[in-house]
Order: sequence, then structure tokens, then C-alpha cells
Amino acid sequence: MLASAFTLMRAKADFIHQFIRHPRKMGSVTPSSATLCRAMSDSVCWNSALRVAELGAGDGVLTRHLLERMLPQAQLDVFEINAQLADKLRAREDARMQVLTCSAEYLNGEYDAIFSGLPLLSLPPALRDRILRAVFNAIGEDGVFIQFQYTSATQPDLSRYFIWQRQRVLKNLPPAWVYRCTRSYAP
Ligand SMILES: C[S@@+](CC[C@H](N)C(=O)[O-])C[C@H]1O[C@@H](n2cnc3c(N)ncnc32)[C@H](O)[C@@H]1O
Repeated sequence: MLASAFTLMRAKADFIHQFIRHPRKMGSVTPSSATLCRAMSDSVCWNSALRVAELGAGDGVLTRHLLERMLPQAQLDVFEINAQLADKLRAREDARMQVLTCSAEYLNGEYDAIFSGLPLLSLPPALRDRILRAVFNAIGEDGVFIQFQYTSATQPDLSRYFIWQRQRVLKNLPPAWVYRCTRSYAP
């Protein structure tokens, strides 16, 4: 009990430390709440999501939820630019997961579902655009892109590529919006 409380405190302290070092890339001083992770993972049909990607996984709080819901034969590609955080994610040792220490703009291939905790608003606009274009190409006609944001300021960027619906999640610090984006409306 004491040991797990200590591990949790240590994980939070590591996250804050990374925020102090890279505030624009981290975008948040705390990891997402369980409620936010659930709202994101509930946006996908897990019986058909076999090729999954996560962009900007941080300390892996959402990654855990995704792995719990993924089928045994599904695959998860994780893009995390911070080498220290990427090493921590790799320590999870799940054969379905591959962690890539590289920028999300290099995403390619085809995915049924792409999740993102990237701080889109604080990224340089050209990089933000490259990432959204890569996601647009990777989800094809039938895939889905789930992005959370703390403000609605990036909606014009999302609208350039996607049709989206959004859901407010108040149980998160700060409260967040979850955007469910597709290339066309779900039937
Ligand atoms: C707010 S944290 C999100 C962490 C976690 N997904 C959560 O929900 O708590 C954003 C993460 O995106 C990563 N990141 C920032 N720019 C990136 C990029 N271009 N490609 C991949 N990861 C990036 C940061 O290193 C950081 O770990």
C-alpha cells in the first residue's frame, strides 16, 4: 500500500519534472484523469480496432487504458518524442505495444484508431499541421482520431481535416474536451 502510494507520487513528480524541462512539448503539469482516459477509450469500438496508435503518451496513463481494452491480436504503436518517457513506456513490456521515440509527424501506415494527448495548441503551427495531415492520411475513410484538448482554440485546425464531435470532461485538471474526429460522419 505504502509502496504503491510512493510509486504514484514518484510518477507524478517525474511528470512535473518533465513539464518544467519541456513546458511547450508537455502542455500539462498533470497526467490525464481516469475519467478523461475512459471518455477517450469509450469513443472507439474495440471489436474492430486492431491497428491502434497513440501520439504523445507521456507517462502512459492513457496507454494503460488502451492496452486493457485492446483485443489480444491488436497492435499499438506509441509515438513519444521524450526519450526518458519513451523508456518508461517500454518498461511496460506488452507484446502488442511498440514504442517509437520520434515525433508524431512521422506517423504513417493505416490505423483503425489514433489517440492523441499532444498539446496541439502549444506546438508550432507548421508542426501541428504536419501531424494532423499525417493522422488524416493514416485513418483513411473508416478510422477514427480521438484528441483531447483543454481549450477549443484548435477547433479550426481540426475542422480543416476532420468532421468532429466533442464531449466535455469536467473531472480532469484542468477540465478538457475530447474530440472524436473522422473523415466523414459515422453512418
Ligand atoms: C500532456 S502530455 C500527455 C500525456 C498523456 N497522454 C496524458 O494524457 O496524460 C503530452 C506528451 O506529448 C509529447 N509530445 C510533444 N510533442 C510531441 C511530438 N511532436 N511527437 C510525439 N510526442 C510529443 C510530450 O513529450 C508529452 O509526453
